[in-house]
Amino acid sequence: MICDYEGSDYKARFWQNADRAYEDAVERVAIAKFLPPTGKRIIEIGAGFGRLGEMYRGYDEIILLDYSRSLLDQAREMWGHDPRFKFVAASVYELPFVPGVINTALMIRVMHHMADVPAALHQIRQMMAANGTFILEFANKRNLKAMARYALGKQAWSPYTPEPVEFVKLNYDFHPQWMGEQLKQAGFVTQQCIPVSYLRAGVLKRTLPLNMMVGVDKTLQGFAPLLAPSVFSRNQIPGGPDASALTGEAIFCSPKSGAPLRRDGDMLICDADGTRWRVDGNFYDFKEAG
Ligand SMILES: C[S@@+](CC[C@H](N)C(=O)[O-])C[C@H]1O[C@@H](n2cnc3c(N)ncnc32)[C@H](O)[C@@H]1O
Repeated sequence: MICDYEGSDYKARFWQNADRAYEDAVERVAIAKFLPPTGKRIIEIGAGFGRLGEMYRGYDEIILLDYSRSLLDQAREMWGHDPRFKFVAASVYELPFVPGVINTALMIRVMHHMADVPAALHQIRQMMAANGTFILEFANKRNLKAMARYALGKQAWSPYTPEPVEFVKLNYDFHPQWMGEQLKQAGFVTQQCIPVSYLRAGVLKRTLPLNMMVGVDKTLQGFAPLLAPSVFSRNQIPGGPDASALTGEAIFCSPKSGAPLRRDGDMLICDADGTRWRVDGNFYDFKEAG
C-alpha cells in the first residue's frame, strides 16, 4: 500500500502556506552535516516537488525519484534546466536501478509513509554502491510531546515500546532502536543518529526569531538525546558491488524483474519480462508499465 500524493497540493499546503520555515531550515542543517558534499551520483527517494534540490549541487548526477508524477513535474519545473538532473517516477518498493549504481541516497519525510520498512530498506540497499552513504529521516515515536501526552493519559499508545505506531492511515512513527535494527538487518552500518526539530511547537515558532530557533536546534543536534519528533541517521554501505561507473540509461533495469532495458523511441523496453517504460526527455516513468 502506497500513500499516493498524485495531484496533491503538498507544496502549497504544507510548505508555502504554512509556518514551516523552521522545519525546512533545521532539516537542511542536518543534511549538510551528514551529506558528503561532492560525489558522482546522488538520489533523493520521495523527493516530492524537489524542495531540497540545491543541496545536491556538488554531485555529477542528481536523481529525484517520487511515486507522484505531478510532484515530480513541479520538481522538473524547478530543476529541469540543469542537465545533471533526472526525474524518476517509481515506488521505493520497486526501484528501477542496477545494483550498486548509487553513491549517495537520501530519504527525508518519506519513511513515515512506509507500511513495509524492511522491503523499502532492502530495495535501497540493493541499488547502493560499496562505501556509499544513505541518509534517512524518520518520525520518532519516542519524542517529548508523545512522552508527556502518554504520561497525562492523553495518548493510548506508548512512546517507549519498539513497534511502529500508525497514528493516521499510512502515517507511522518509529522507535529509534527499532529503526536501527531494521537498518542493520538490511545491511547498513549506522554511523550516527541526531535529533532534529526539538522546537517544533506553534507557540515557540510564533514567539522566537527563526535564526535563534535554528541556532538552538543546531546545537541540540550535536549532543541531545533522540527525543525530538524527527531523527536523521547516516548509514554506510559496507560492501557489495560498485557499478557507479555506469552512465546514462545503463543505470536502469526493469523494476519488475531487474532485467536489462533497451531504448526504442521514447520507451525503455525489457525483452526478458515484456515491460515497457515511457521516457520524456529527462523524465523516466517507472510507475506503470506502458
Ligand atoms: C511528505 S512528502 C516529502 C517530500 C520530500 N521528501 C520533502 O521532504 O519535501 C512524502 C513524499 O513521499 C512520496 N512517497 C510516498 N510513498 C512513496 C513510495 N512508495 N515510493 C516513492 N515515493 C513515495 C510521496 O509521493 C511524497 O512526495
